[in-house]
Amino acid sequence: MTFKITKICCIGAGYVGGPTMSVIADKCNYIQVNVVDVNLKRINLWNSNNLDNLPIYEPGLKEIIKRRRGENLFFSSELEKNISSADMIFISVNTPTKVRGEGAGKASDLKWVEASARKVAEFARGHTIVVEKSTLPVRTANVIKQILEAAQSSSSSSKHPATFDVLSNPEFLAEGSAIKDLEQPDRVLIGGENKNAIFALNDIYKNWVPQEKILHTNIWSSELAKLTANAFLAQRISSINSIGALCEATGADVREVARAIGSDSRIGSKFLDSGPGFGGSCFKKDILNLVYLSNHFGLKEVARFWEGVVELNTWHQKRISRLVVSKLYGTVRGKKIGILGFSFKANTNDTRESSAISICKDLLEEGAFLNIHDPRVDLNQIEIDLNLNEHNSSNNDSVHNHNLGEGVWIYSKTIEEVFKSADAVLILTEWQEYSFIDWKSVSTKMRKPSWIFDARSVLNLADLKGTDLNFWRIGDGSLIN
Ligand code: NAD
Ligand code: UGA
Repeated sequence: MTFKITKICCIGAGYVGGPTMSVIADKCNYIQVNVVDVNLKRINLWNSNNLDNLPIYEPGLKEIIKRRRGENLFFSSELEKNISSADMIFISVNTPTKVRGEGAGKASDLKWVEASARKVAEFARGHTIVVEKSTLPVRTANVIKQILEAAQSSSSSSKHPATFDVLSNPEFLAEGSAIKDLEQPDRVLIGGENKNAIFALNDIYKNWVPQEKILHTNIWSSELAKLTANAFLAQRISSINSIGALCEATGADVREVARAIGSDSRIGSKFLDSGPGFGGSCFKKDILNLVYLSNHFGLKEVARFWEGVVELNTWHQKRISRLVVSKLYGTVRGKKIGILGFSFKANTNDTRESSAISICKDLLEEGAFLNIHDPRVDLNQIEIDLNLNEHNSSNNDSVHNHNLGEGVWIYSKTIEEVFKSADAVLILTEWQEYSFIDWKSVSTKMRKPSWIFDARSVLNLADLKGTDLNFWRIGDGSLIN
């Protein structure tokens, strides 16, 4: 039996559900796409008239929303209605690391996936293809199947019990380039058992993705391939960051080393930028999940190998905050340090697991006065991330105390403000505007001796000529020796 899909429901209107469904709606105008979420505030933002208020910033996203919303793309909190009318349901909910109980700190918390599967079991009608879009531990499809099958057998007395197929279709988009990644993916992966269900999903992607880029696998390979892809990518970053530290110690330059090794076609040049450590909602959680699974299957050496990637990243973030303190004569208490960039990478407002959070917390612990700027991250988000516990409005409305040390921080709307009386400025996100700073002009605003720490290699060394700035950049041993 072939399945023709005309109505899709996506559970979860987040960083993946929102952009993914927008692109499907844009490429397949014959399909009605309903994106549902329990978070009403988020749904309201997806429905905002002002497209600058969408809950997610992604280049190209608002143009698609403008074209499709209200035509064949809808955002709502009506789960029941939209589940029951769908031919295909994507589960695109969050799967963070468990914080309590068995596997805490490593295993994925599947409670939102399970809740979604239960809703599908309760409301689906006729034959429904359920697609795992969230990143899930291997064999999660079994959990979903069991929940759906239980619903089937309990409704077996009815004339037309609901029936299901389960597919795995992991998402490989990166934030900041989500729309481009969705429109021109390197590959689309579909794992499953029933060929007809696989081809129903295949035919949706075929509207814009060449068939040779749509890979079919068994369901477990598909689930494992997603975790593996993220683990390999993160491993490259920990590898290059470890070499960056060695470069600083030996007089080598990590950019030159990266270029030299990246020219080897077996290694390739992508994902070799040394930075302040990887952030983002997924790398750490997905590797820890792999570690948990390996241990679960008795593969201790495999678990240790992958755990090392996360440990190196944590060490590397600490290394940067320690280095700043050490360059500023071993103490930053009361010293003003400007922070340029708070998101985990450029072109996104997402701060989840951003290295800026741990580096700022370390510096606050040491008593620093931080002046933070980011073109897309707002004050509220930074408050949440830095565990603000107090507003000190007696001196200045925008001064915030941090609950860990004696440090304080303020939020700057402009780049220029960050340099005022600063002892040091630390670049943590590679926003394009940071590469256009007039260093001669800003250096005059800083307290002497002043330091610039470039953890993202955004600065052009020639632009610093003629200034009295002391300069450090990630992995550059030539500056040190
Ligand atoms: P997110 O937190 O931005 O969005 C998840 C949404 O699901 C939230 O809005 C939440 O309210 C909603 N939700 C949770 N339980 C629900 C329920 N029972 N019913 C309805 N809505 C519910 O998460 P995200 O970043 O979109 O990630 C989703 C999944 O995709 C994760 O498994 C993640 O690992 C994976 N992934 C993320 C990215 C990325 O770039 N963020 C890329 C690839 C894969
Ligand atoms: C990553 C993967 O790239 C996506 O394929 C995947 O779908 C997604 O995770 C996911 O599963 O969530 P994302 O986290 O959005 O995407 O961003 P990346 O571009 O991979 O960057 C992750 C982190 O690594 C950032 O902090 C970035 O600054 C850092 N990075 C990246 C480096 O330090 N150096 C590099 O060369 C590349």
